[in-house]
Amino acid sequence: MNKKTVRDIDLQGKKVLLRCDLNVPLDENQNITDNTRIVAAISTIKYLLDNNCKIIITSHLGRPKGEFKPEFSLAPVAKELSKLLGINVKMAKDVIGESAKELKENLKEGEILLLENVRFHREETDNDPEFSKKLAEGCDVFVNDAFGSAHRAHASTTGVASFLPAVAGFLMEKEIDFLKNAIDNPKRPFMAIIGGAKVSDKIGVIESLLDKVDKLFIGGGMSYTFFKAQGYEIGQSICEPDKCDLALETMEKAKAKGVKLFLPVDVKIGKEYGPDTETQIVDFDKMPSDWEGMDIGPKTIEIYSQELKDAKTVIWNGPVGVFEFDRFAIGTNSIAKAISELDATTIIGGGDSAAATVKCGLADKMTHISTGGGASLELLEGRKLPGLEALQDK
Ligand code: 3PG
Repeated sequence: MNKKTVRDIDLQGKKVLLRCDLNVPLDENQNITDNTRIVAAISTIKYLLDNNCKIIITSHLGRPKGEFKPEFSLAPVAKELSKLLGINVKMAKDVIGESAKELKENLKEGEILLLENVRFHREETDNDPEFSKKLAEGCDVFVNDAFGSAHRAHASTTGVASFLPAVAGFLMEKEIDFLKNAIDNPKRPFMAIIGGAKVSDKIGVIESLLDKVDKLFIGGGMSYTFFKAQGYEIGQSICEPDKCDLALETMEKAKAKGVKLFLPVDVKIGKEYGPDTETQIVDFDKMPSDWEGMDIGPKTIEIYSQELKDAKTVIWNGPVGVFEFDRFAIGTNSIAKAISELDATTIIGGGDSAAATVKCGLADKMTHISTGGGASLELLEGRKLPGLEALQDK
């Protein structure tokens, strides 16, 4: 990575504004259901503690749209951080108000303060310079470790970098190194599995990967747009009719570039969309008109698993079925298992494929699981990430 990191500046005793992505899922009782992003933030925090820094952490949680909403409070995150670090993390009641100001001013070396959800202010997503200035007030250095938010040009991800020396944390560095390395210098054969509901969400990454991979496997809801484009019956399955031409072009491009493009050969269909619906497995070209495709079938699982076997680099982004429903999670779980057994560099894009890998208990069998959903997708598309661009060059 060509950006400065915490290793490149003197941090001894400094007051550091640390942007993390602590946007974790909570249940209806405000319990954290997956603490991966908090765990991933720990190594930079520990390094700052070792350097006797006064640490002020800022993050968003969800999309409260510029208003205080108690269900979007970062309070549960402060508790979890305290538990993981074994020290008390102070929690401000606001972001730039009296509570934050007072706690910020009185913070001592080796202490940590978590500010309330930065998105309780609309100025955050507006990237308002006055707001960035207030966030930066009293701090000496800005450390951005929020890879998951690096594709957002917000006050706390890019704006503050105009007011403070700005460097990357270890998580940001690790994510960029793994993802960039995989796409720029992959060990071959290089293969990608791209799932998800919509062609429109994934076309950028598919196009970018077609220039790089040897094999590309398609799964998930977007498969049905590819089937429809070729004139097949897709029943009630999700489809973007206006993306059929794009799907055909993608197939043509893959052929022209010598990339082997795989589409499901069979699918698990449901009588209706829901967790307990009746199911059937049919070949992709035998779909009844009143059923809905919700997962890849066993023949597809077998083909994809076999074809992946000689991979040396694999990137997986997006589930291949409606994995939230157990009876349609078999495809996604099987892909996770097949990847986990490879003798290859295995990179799991964030979001749903990361969640599925964690749910299967296979997280520690992968080379790298990204903490960024949108951010990893944009990076794989070859786009620049504003949160990274704003940091000082090496
Ligand atoms: C994410 O969950 O992908 C990041 O935290 C960014 O969240 P956002 O899409 O609400 O900006």
